[in-house]
Amino acid sequence: MNFCIKTSCCALGILFSQCIHATPTMFSDVINPSSNQNLSKHDWRNRSRSMDKFIDDLLGKMTLDEKIGQLDLQSGYRGVTGPFVNAAYEQQIRNGNVGAIFNAYGAEFGKRLQTIAVEQTRLGIPIIIGHDVIHGHKTIFPQSIGEAASWDLEAIQLSAKIAAKEASADGIMWSFAPMADIVRDPRWGRVSESAGEDPLLTSAISVARVKGFQGEDISRDDTIMATAKHFVGYGASQAGRDYNSTDISEHRLWSLYLPPFKAMLDAGVTTFMTGFNDLNGTPVTGNRYLLKDVLRDKWGFKGFVVTDYTAVNELVAHGYAKDEKHAAQLAFNGGADMDMVGQTYLKYLKPLIEEKKVSEARLNDAVRRVLEMKWRLGLFADPYRYHDDKRAAKRILTKENLAAATDMARRSMVLLKNHNQPLPIDTKKINSIALIGPLADNRYDMIGNWAGAGDRGAQPVTVKEGLESILGDDVTIRYAKGATHSYLLSHTGMSSLMGIDVPVSGQTKEDLQSDIDEALQIAKTSDVVVMVLGEDQRMSGEASSRTELTLPGNQQALMEALRSLNKPLILVVMSGRPNDLRWADSNVDAILQAWYPGTMGGQAVADVLMGKYNPAGKLPMTFPRSVGQVPLFYNHKNTGRPIGSANPSHTPVEYTSRYDDSLNSPLYAFGHGLSYTQFEYGPPTLSSEKLTLKGELTLTVKVTNVGDRKGEEVIQLYTHQKVGSITRPVKELKGFQKLEFAPGETKNVKFTLTPADLAFFRADMTWGIEPGEFDVMVGGASNQVQALTFTLTD
Ligand code: NOJ
Repeated sequence: MNFCIKTSCCALGILFSQCIHATPTMFSDVINPSSNQNLSKHDWRNRSRSMDKFIDDLLGKMTLDEKIGQLDLQSGYRGVTGPFVNAAYEQQIRNGNVGAIFNAYGAEFGKRLQTIAVEQTRLGIPIIIGHDVIHGHKTIFPQSIGEAASWDLEAIQLSAKIAAKEASADGIMWSFAPMADIVRDPRWGRVSESAGEDPLLTSAISVARVKGFQGEDISRDDTIMATAKHFVGYGASQAGRDYNSTDISEHRLWSLYLPPFKAMLDAGVTTFMTGFNDLNGTPVTGNRYLLKDVLRDKWGFKGFVVTDYTAVNELVAHGYAKDEKHAAQLAFNGGADMDMVGQTYLKYLKPLIEEKKVSEARLNDAVRRVLEMKWRLGLFADPYRYHDDKRAAKRILTKENLAAATDMARRSMVLLKNHNQPLPIDTKKINSIALIGPLADNRYDMIGNWAGAGDRGAQPVTVKEGLESILGDDVTIRYAKGATHSYLLSHTGMSSLMGIDVPVSGQTKEDLQSDIDEALQIAKTSDVVVMVLGEDQRMSGEASSRTELTLPGNQQALMEALRSLNKPLILVVMSGRPNDLRWADSNVDAILQAWYPGTMGGQAVADVLMGKYNPAGKLPMTFPRSVGQVPLFYNHKNTGRPIGSANPSHTPVEYTSRYDDSLNSPLYAFGHGLSYTQFEYGPPTLSSEKLTLKGELTLTVKVTNVGDRKGEEVIQLYTHQKVGSITRPVKELKGFQKLEFAPGETKNVKFTLTPADLAFFRADMTWGIEPGEFDVMVGGASNQVQALTFTLTD
């Protein structure tokens, strides 16, 4: 399968094609013995042998219980001061019941646990320590969907590389990322962890992350293992409700959901994680077809598969297994090697083997896969290599890391609207800014969700601080919170009834009104109003689905009150999903989507607002007009009655595929994003109107920066096959290039297409091409393209 296009000169383009065609990451097979003397007590630790020989010997010495222990992944507990474990837990490690641990970072803490595994178990096999290192470790980068909005593979790879550098210095050797679930429903809280709705963009970004985490060699002390998750289809959770079932046709599975996983596998990803979802009636954690037939046998995956958190136990609730023992049998025989938290393997694999329901060969296969990773991480050479306090001090939260986080945060921002250019704010024309909103001077939410090791206290830079650092005494900044970004009181009853922690404002009506009054007061005396609104970070991420996409709390009332003042009104949105910005789009002068921008986020927002950085982000996910349009995505099918196809003689307009009360089109399309400069696209040309089976086709388009500022543009290439053995999407992204243009500069941008780029999962369930006519489209957004046609001939 090849879903890539070779691109022309630009560095990012080259990186992109390299990503997709990457050869598997190479591991060094023999690791030099380290100075760790304790290891000499067992002769099997002679590491001068090859990995295979070493593991053969080790497996030969292991009891059934010791083998099963290797397949158990346990979680530490998270306390106020960081992770901890109790005595019973330490005893589990001592008993050889733990092969890997997560939520147990910290060089010293990890060393304590590792010491138990290495010094106090019979065979002294080291444990793997994992963590959800999702968008940074201590230096927090923008929320994953924000990073994706940069379309900048080099910057994304660097972000993962820095995360690995910090995590590996903090006792961690395994990240539970990248998440490569394709998402089409913004109600689902986990869209914030994704790279959006497109399989090609998600593949390229996920590969960049795998390369960033794992580097060339996971045995280095600054790289960690990556995890391709959640295998597969979890992003299609029905109605956007977390943990819900998924029902995905074979075609959609192969065309949309599987490609990013294949791309990560080709890039050498070391582990896969199953999802929570029931897929077409078979929960993926017990899905032999996916885990064995596809992943192992067809794709040849050599690493190990970990389940998601208690996903094996959940096979019972799914109604797929009759009890936990049966669940362990189905998951393990299905191909899930390591059990996260639920301890079903620990309890039931031994009796299942004795009853011959699970084979010893399968057990040995799974244990071998885990031991191989331990070898490749260098743990048998030196189990304490990730536990060096001095290295932590040198590598974590360095100036360099914080500078990269600022850069990534700037790149993640998407300028959605800038009517009459109120942005960037011109300090020559103003004396004061009213900075209003619950996220304007807020450290806690700035780093978003899945930032477990990140500091939400002193560390993050707020927007207010960012602006102050740029403006000094030249411009007066007046700040007011103005509103709450949590659910209002009406939800309190429900949440306390259910005993769950949802963000609730807890304010009375009077408090809310006085917040708005205070905001109005400072806005009246200021020249420009900047609102920093959005969602409490707990409203996205796992277990954070919403039925509304509107800005929560009383933020709508705040916006309306401020609009009535008739001052230039700018909205910065911090959130982990596409929100319903309909009102804002019609009533606010400029909108900047800032996602959760991370530790340095406030600085980056200020840099964009004040024009110290020209925004270039593009949406990786469609922003609908309303929740009622969901799911709404750019690569949809045409239908038999597409809107706009009205033919008065037999199909009146009202009988086409449309809504009575809304346009079909999104508020902001996939690929949309403005700049402070303007780009003009000349008419594209094709090297030929025919593409032969062994040939290639070049599309050339002149792009000019017609404004007076330097800027970057993401030039996007789409195709559409007019007729296929199965119907084809109206557009599919086939390539992109992010290029920088000086003011007035023109570039001849070239994209090369080969037949392989046009392959798809055909009616006969095979990947391949079908000759025929194609549209090829180029432009700065999925809805801003110019089209040409060509024919693929046989
Ligand atoms: C559950 C989540 O679904 C998964 O993505 C995560 O890695 C694990 N919990 C561990 O925290």
